Parts: sequence; structure tokens; C-alpha cells
Amino acid sequence: STQKLWGGRFTGETDPLMHLYNASLPYDYKMYKADLEGTRVYTAGLQKLGLLTQAELAKIHEGLAEIKQEWDADKFIRHPNDEDIHTANERRLGEIIGRDIAGKVHTGRSRNDQVVTDLRIYCRDVVNDNLFPALKGLVDVLIKRAKGEINILMPGYTHLQRAQPIRWSHWLSSYATYFTEDYKRLDQILHRLNQSPLGAGALAGHPYGIDREFLAEGLGFNSVIGNSMVAVSDRDFIVELMFWGTLFMNHISRFAEDLIIYCTAEFGFIQLSDAYSTGSSLMPQKKNADSLELLRGKSGRVFGDLTGFLMSLKGIPSTYDKDMQEDKEPLFDCLTTVEHSMLIATGVISTLTVKKEKMEASLTMDMLATDLADYLVRKGVPFRETHHISGECVATAEKLGLDGIDKLTLEQYQKIDPRFAGDLFATFNFEQSVERRDATGGTAKSAILKQLDNLKSQLK
Ligand code: ARG
Repeated sequence: STQKLWGGRFTGETDPLMHLYNASLPYDYKMYKADLEGTRVYTAGLQKLGLLTQAELAKIHEGLAEIKQEWDADKFIRHPNDEDIHTANERRLGEIIGRDIAGKVHTGRSRNDQVVTDLRIYCRDVVNDNLFPALKGLVDVLIKRAKGEINILMPGYTHLQRAQPIRWSHWLSSYATYFTEDYKRLDQILHRLNQSPLGAGALAGHPYGIDREFLAEGLGFNSVIGNSMVAVSDRDFIVELMFWGTLFMNHISRFAEDLIIYCTAEFGFIQLSDAYSTGSSLMPQKKNADSLELLRGKSGRVFGDLTGFLMSLKGIPSTYDKDMQEDKEPLFDCLTTVEHSMLIATGVISTLTVKKEKMEASLTMDMLATDLADYLVRKGVPFRETHHISGECVATAEKLGLDGIDKLTLEQYQKIDPRFAGDLFATFNFEQSVERRDATGGTAKSAILKQLDNLKSQLK
């Protein structure tokens, strides 16, 4: 028989390339802590069944703690025959406490329930320890900037054409809103992924009647997966997490795209700090928004992580098949990319300079054409009619070569519609335009401050 953990029925050696092709340790070592923790609780379950003595359990737990120290200190020595994190840890346990005892830890367990237990623990820990804090950090800086710069006005766009004046804080608050929804969505996913597959065995269940609720509780899961076949073959939590990442990256990508436009010389609304820009090897004057372009570009790779794994998953018969090992690299790539993107976006937002004068100089009177229509609505004219009249005012000003609808005289206005009166000129005020939009969700100061408070209260 060969050296492999499963080598009993084998007489031939594995092809060396097959060993590499099959091995997942180069990337699944990341789950070492979850794997050791899973074994710690699982063996406590075995002890409860009388399958391990108290003394054996204590030895096992000591050995597991030692292995954890080795991994933590980057001193774990990998053996060429190690296939994955599960076999590596068990091999090492045998070396530390002796194979007689170590050989008992896998009783009733399969790598099929083991690997997915590890994965669920790993995902839960990354969500709690990395993603939640990083995402909250991003929302926090958006809120902080939005509060601090609430007096700055800028053009709001539809079709990338100047549309209506908004507060810069309204733009910030809009992305804080997307990211807060991402935060809440992640919380829902966390609840679903935090269920225990441990004790399902290879697929059919546990032959010694292990207390699966005890295992679940010991590992911090909120429930037990109710069917052993589902327990070992379900990877929906990975798909969901990667879809979540894809959606987040879509938000980040659009956020980055806005800022890329805003920091062109043509717009000049913002300036990125040196910390998040790079230069050109050829053109000495260049300051490129590489951080933002990468935020936009990396959204594609996270999308690829999701779709690639979905392709692997779709044809797999129940229950565990080795195809499933292909879940890890895209998952890890997605999680790392998403977390780093959060941190970079946070850095970009907290360090950029806002060019208030440039933003406000870009506001043009035609952006108040809606307000002019609203002026007549307040005098009782139906909006469809006022829309038309206001359009005529824009066209007339343009035809006369005037620098804006505010340059038409009262007489010219009254020629277009006699219901115009001298008070119409009060319409041409950007500050008043935004302040009128004080209904919930609008760009008035009070409405934005309410939005920001509301967002804050939704984050843990
Ligand atoms: N390394 C495998 C994975 O990542 C887990 C082992 C299960 N392997 C098996 N042949 N049953 O999915």
C-alpha cells in the first residue's frame, strides 16, 4: 500500500503530475484554523460517544494546539505527500501524539463533511473579521465626508448630461446607501451559510449516532443542515457569497467610474491624493487614477470567479465529487479582491481633495429649467404644459445667444407665457433648487442628514 491516507486499496503510485493536479494544499492551507477547530470539536463529540477516552481527547487537543502554533508562526513543514489541509493536519497530528491516537480522530467523519465544515467556518470568519469591518469603514468615511462637505453643490447627471444641481454629499450618500445594502445583504447570507454539515459522514450519515447539535454549537453554527447528502454537496453558500461579491464590485465599479470622470481635467471636480495615483513612464505630467481603474477592472475578475465556479458546479451529480475542490480558488480570490477593494476605496475617499469652485462653476442655469417649470406649476399650470413652456424659454435663450435662461427679460418671458411674473427670477438660485428637494431621500440638507443618520443606524 502507498503512503497516502486513503492508500489501503492502492498498490500503484500516483502519477506525479496527478498528485500536483489533485493537491489543494497550496491554497486550502488558508483554512488551517477552521480545520483544527473542526477536529477539536469533532473529537469532543467522539469522546461523548465513548469512542475516545478523556486522556486521548486531551492528547489530541494538545496536539491540535501545537499544530496551530506551527501554522501561526509559519513553521508548519509540509510533506510532499500532503494532499490537502485535512490530510496535512492529520499527518502532523500523528507525528506529534502518535498514530495510535491520531488514527482515531477521523472515526465516522469523511473529508466530505470535513472540507465543507472548514469552508463554512472560514467564510464566516472572513465575513465577520474582514468584510464587515472593511465595509463599515467605507460607509463611515462616506458618511463623514458627506457631513463635513454638505454645503458643496455640484451638477447631478442623467445620461452623463447635466441634469439638476445636487449636493456633493448627496452623491456620497448615494454610494453609502448602496454599500449599506451590501452590508445588510451580507448579514443575511451569513445567517444562511452559518449552518453545520459536520457529522454527515461521507454522504449517508453518521454510523455512531454523533450529536450533531453538540458539534454545531461547539463550532458556533446556528443550526444543523438537515440532510446529510445536502450537507456534503451543497455549495450554494459559496455561490451566494461570490454573487454578493459580484454585486458589491458592480457598485464599486460604478463608484470608481464616477470618480474617474470627476478627476479628469475636463471635469476637475476632485483630485486624487498621491497615495492612490501613479505616474506615467513616458509622460512626466501624468497623474493617473490607477486605484479607481483597478476598482473598476477587478470587478470583472470577481464576476469571473462567480461564473467560472457556477460552470463547474452545474453538472455535478449528488453528492461530493472532486469538481467541488474548484470552489476554493475563486472563492478566496473573490474574498481577497473584495476586501482589498473596500480598503482601497476607503483610502481614496478619505484622502481625495474636492474642488468646490470647479463643481459649482459647472452648474449652469439650464439645470434650473425644471425649477422654472415648477414655478408655473405653483401658479396652477399643469406640469405637462409648464414643461413645454420652460423648454421654449431654454430654446429662446439659446436662439438669442444668451448665456442662460436667467438672461431673458421679464417682457421676453411674458411673451412666451403671460403667467410669468417678476418673482420668476428668484427661481435662478442653485441653493434654493436643492433646498426645495427636502422630501425624504432628496438633496436638501435636512433630507441628506436624515439619510446619513438612517444609514448609520443600520450598521452594527
Ligand atoms: N480537498 C478536497 C476539497 O477541497 C476535500 C477532500 C475530499 N476529497 C475526497 N476525495 N473525498 O474538496
